[in-house]
Amino acid sequence: MTQTTLAIIGGTGLTTLKGLEITRREVMHTPYGEPSGPLTHGLLAGREVVFLARHGYSHTIPPHQVNYRANIWALKHAGVHGVVAVAAVGGITTEMAPRRIAFPDQIIDYTWSRAHTFFDQDLTHVTHVDFTEPYDPALRQRLIAAARSIGVDAVERGTYAATQGPRLETAAEINRLERDGCDMVGMTGMPEAVLARELELPYATCAVIANWAAGRGEGEITMDEVQENIAAAMSNVRHVLETTIET
Ligand code: HPA
Repeated sequence: MTQTTLAIIGGTGLTTLKGLEITRREVMHTPYGEPSGPLTHGLLAGREVVFLARHGYSHTIPPHQVNYRANIWALKHAGVHGVVAVAAVGGITTEMAPRRIAFPDQIIDYTWSRAHTFFDQDLTHVTHVDFTEPYDPALRQRLIAAARSIGVDAVERGTYAATQGPRLETAAEINRLERDGCDMVGMTGMPEAVLARELELPYATCAVIANWAAGRGEGEITMDEVQENIAAAMSNVRHVLETTIET
């Protein structure tokens, strides 16, 4: 593995990475249980990458049941040097329109009862990781520079609200999230981001805006609409990932 091998965690709409020349699949067992699936090693744009589908390769693991610790531990122990997480979100503030992509710079955690730390067993000392900047600034800048260089329209900042799911939010909950300063809402951002930080793995997110969050668009949010918007945004996501990996 090279000094700069990135992992890509694929979310809803990204269970396979088109253009990835697969070299091998690696089944990993971790002290925290099984990851969402085998790690897929391969070459993307001629560079080594490791891919993992967060919800499983057949998209059967809901956000609250993802084994985030096993996934992050497996990637760390596979030797990657950074993680780009692709994650579907609902757009709260006006610039977060469906089909755009966004690179959040902050996160607020509203999840509960998820295994959210590696530091809860066999402790020799108490550890509190710094999380002032939850996303790795250098890796975020690589994503932003990649999007700019290929002319992909992206929102270059924003606060991600991590909700528990699997249900979507109420309109009142979205109003509260906006008052809290959140721009987008998704169900998988935490504890994934903090677990990467605990293992000192640079981590950044490419959010794919799948729908207007509850009460921000017309009528109900349908899964058809979500899937269509994600599919429409995916070619931009793929180009950004390929360009990021090349740089
Ligand atoms: N809320 C939470 N998670 C999501 C949404 C949403 O509206 N859209 C896609 N993931």
